[in-house]
Amino acid sequence: MEALVEQVRSLANNGDEKIRKSILDTLQSLRNSIETPDDTIQRFTFYNLQLAALRVGVNLKLFNYLAESEKPLTVAELSGKTSATPVFLGRILRYLASFGAIKETEQDAFTHTNITQTFAVSGFQAAVCHYFDTMGPAIQNLPEFLKETNYADPENSANTALQKAFNTDQPAFFWLQTQPDKMGFFQEYLTVNRAGMPTFLDAYPIHEKATGLSPERTLFVDVGGGFGHQAIAFREKYPDLEGRVIVQDLAPTLQHALKHPKVETIEQDFFQPQIIRGAKFYYLRNIFHDWPDDKSRAILKNTIDALAEDSVILIDDMVLPNVGVHWQAAQLDVLMMTTLAARERTQDQWYKLLESAGLKINSITTYTSSLKDSIIEAVPA
Ligand SMILES: C[S@@+](CC[C@H](N)C(=O)[O-])C[C@H]1O[C@@H](n2cnc3c(N)ncnc32)[C@H](O)[C@@H]1O
Repeated sequence: MEALVEQVRSLANNGDEKIRKSILDTLQSLRNSIETPDDTIQRFTFYNLQLAALRVGVNLKLFNYLAESEKPLTVAELSGKTSATPVFLGRILRYLASFGAIKETEQDAFTHTNITQTFAVSGFQAAVCHYFDTMGPAIQNLPEFLKETNYADPENSANTALQKAFNTDQPAFFWLQTQPDKMGFFQEYLTVNRAGMPTFLDAYPIHEKATGLSPERTLFVDVGGGFGHQAIAFREKYPDLEGRVIVQDLAPTLQHALKHPKVETIEQDFFQPQIIRGAKFYYLRNIFHDWPDDKSRAILKNTIDALAEDSVILIDDMVLPNVGVHWQAAQLDVLMMTTLAARERTQDQWYKLLESAGLKINSITTYTSSLKDSIIEAVPA
């Protein structure tokens, strides 16, 4: 058995991301196929408890203490660093170790694993807080919400399981603006989301499409660009391309935007007419998956109205295969439904949406294997 595990491990570590992902999927199928009903129930019904324990671990900085220490730490040592009593701490640590978030080395002593290292990074801690504090209550309300709405596909972003959970009638992004802690977790999580994975810059031939433009012209507008990571990556990858690079978002988000001497930030509500006219690229990453089709069409219309003859709309979002969606992509689709009445779109749904907005798709280039992150180049039909 150990030899078999070593063989699989070395295959997974050989640097080929596709093979590594396919091993994970194969192991999951293997696990499913050998589970008894009791194994299955124990596994599926405790997922929210795992997330709660991780949230406690983040609150107490347990992952940081363990990741920073070269040697295992005892329960007594960790109790000294936190306000937690040793008996309680021992129980939580044992539970975290039982599913691999940390490792038990001997009685009452624990060390880090690769997973501890992940949860010691503040952006990933923000993910735990975001999924527990904001997504968690919405997910908890989903079954009842769907029952009340007769299992209709949610289409109103002001009426989802999230509004039911938090007793608000505001769409999630407006409501989040009034929740600084929750907004902070979300935005910080976005800074590491998909870290280390390929980006659209690895997939789309910007240089080929953007040479010979006038220096006065706006080169790249990152619409709803958040803290500006993509625009900064773009500017740094193409320092020789002339023209303005602009991040647009709502003011509360731009307050936290990263500073870069060659990247401007301009407040823009994408439901209002686009103020930067005639840019070469209007880039929208993870925007349309937040909105149902009618709202997406409104954002697209404001963008289309600003286009020059040779402008291009670049949509950076997941494009799901029409059949055989990976579980990581499928769960994001249902999450979008739960909190935003939005969706991760299949290839057919993208064609339908963009055609209905008066656009034609020139190309779709997929650059990640399970999520199917893709860059769609669209222009007026
Ligand atoms: C999922 S995030 C994507 C951020 C960024 N494009 C990225 O990929 O990291 C959605 C972004 O849309 C912004 N947003 C939401 N409503 C907006 C609006 N009405 N106008 C402009 N930006 C908005 C949010 O502040 C947030 O930064």
